[in-house]
Amino acid sequence: MKTVKQPPRIAPSILAADFAALGEEVRAVTAAGADYIHIDVMDGHFVPNLTIGPAVIGALRPCSDLTFDVHLMISPVDPHIEAFAEAGADIITVHPEAGPHLHRTIQSIKACGKKAGVSINPATPVAAAIEVLDEVDLVLVMSVNPGFGGQAFISGVLAKIRALRDAIDGSGRQIDLEVDGGINGRTASLALEAGADVLVAGTAVFGGGPERYADNIRELRGRG
Ligand code: DX5
Ligand code: ZN
Repeated sequence: MKTVKQPPRIAPSILAADFAALGEEVRAVTAAGADYIHIDVMDGHFVPNLTIGPAVIGALRPCSDLTFDVHLMISPVDPHIEAFAEAGADIITVHPEAGPHLHRTIQSIKACGKKAGVSINPATPVAAAIEVLDEVDLVLVMSVNPGFGGQAFISGVLAKIRALRDAIDGSGRQIDLEVDGGINGRTASLALEAGADVLVAGTAVFGGGPERYADNIRELRGRG
């Protein structure tokens, strides 16, 4: 039987939104056809930038029914999992370097009733995600070093995406393979060809203002 390939899902990163109007921005990308809302949480310690915490996520929760895909770039991460779950995260993604026991961190996310993701940086081996593949709902491949929007895609990560696609297919489980950083029309095609099925995009979605969001999302999705 021939399987029909699904179009990729698009997860706008609100890091590139207008922070003075975050609620409106989340409503606008929701109306424009986004699949997930990607929320980058940074602590100025694990990554060299500071963004938002659970209070802001809680304030945004009524603005969209979409999946809140919360990417935690904080260390230590364990003490904050419950607060993000209570604030309204649907998927909570952590980096293996953000705590001493990745497996335990993932268990604690699931104990909160949330989906769990693991994220690997450009210099993190694929094995770090494969060791916990049976436990996660999402693998996030960073295609830039985490911390800032607007960076250039690191094409060396394509091999990681291919390896993870094989591992996920081999697992027989439903696991999102998400790519984050430097996604534009060209790099979206590369990431999708390598096997990604969810694309995070900040600059490429929010560029040009709200009138462009639907076209921007459609163009990225069309790369699949
Ligand atoms: C970087 C973040 C990304 C970032 C992507 O640490 O995880 O989600 O916002 O931004 P662009 O799409 O502009 O590279
Ligand atoms: Zn992110």
